[in-house]
Amino acid sequence: MKEIVVVNGPNLNLLGRREPDKYGVETLDSLNRRVSAKAEELGAICRFVQSNIEGELVSAVQDAADADGIIINAGAYTHYSIALRDAIAAVAAPVVEVHISNVHAREKFRRFSMIAPVCEGSIVGFGGKSYILALYALLEA
Ligand code: DQA
Repeated sequence: MKEIVVVNGPNLNLLGRREPDKYGVETLDSLNRRVSAKAEELGAICRFVQSNIEGELVSAVQDAADADGIIINAGAYTHYSIALRDAIAAVAAPVVEVHISNVHAREKFRRFSMIAPVCEGSIVGFGGKSYILALYALLEA
C-alpha cells in the first residue's frame, strides 16, 4: 500500500478555533480523519505530523523521504523557511504544497512561497478540501 505523509506546520493544531473566518471550523483531528478515509479509498495510508517548530518540520520531511508522497501545509514557514525548502529539495518523494486559505487573496507577504519552486505543485484556497485534492494529485494516475 502506498504511504502519504501529511505535514502540518505552526498553528495548524489550532484549526477549528483559529480565525474560523479564514480557516473554517473543522479541527485538525477531524480533517485528518477525512483525509485518511479518502486516502484509503485511493489505496493509500496516511501518516500525520504536526509541529510548531521549524526544525521538527525539517526532520519530518527528511523522515518521509521514502514515502510515496508528502502533503505539506507549512503555515507561516511557507513564506520564509529556507531550511524547509532545502529539506523538500533533498528528498525524492513528490511534495504537494497546500493551503487552506487563498494566500493570493490575502496580505502581500503571503503571496510568496519559499517552498513552491521545489514542490510538484500547490493547491490553495479550497479549505480542508485542499488536502483531498492533493491526495488526488499524488495518487490518481
Ligand atoms: C496557511 C496560510 C499561511 O499564510 C498562514 O501563515 C497559515 C495557514 C493556510 O493554510 O491557509 O498558518 O498555510
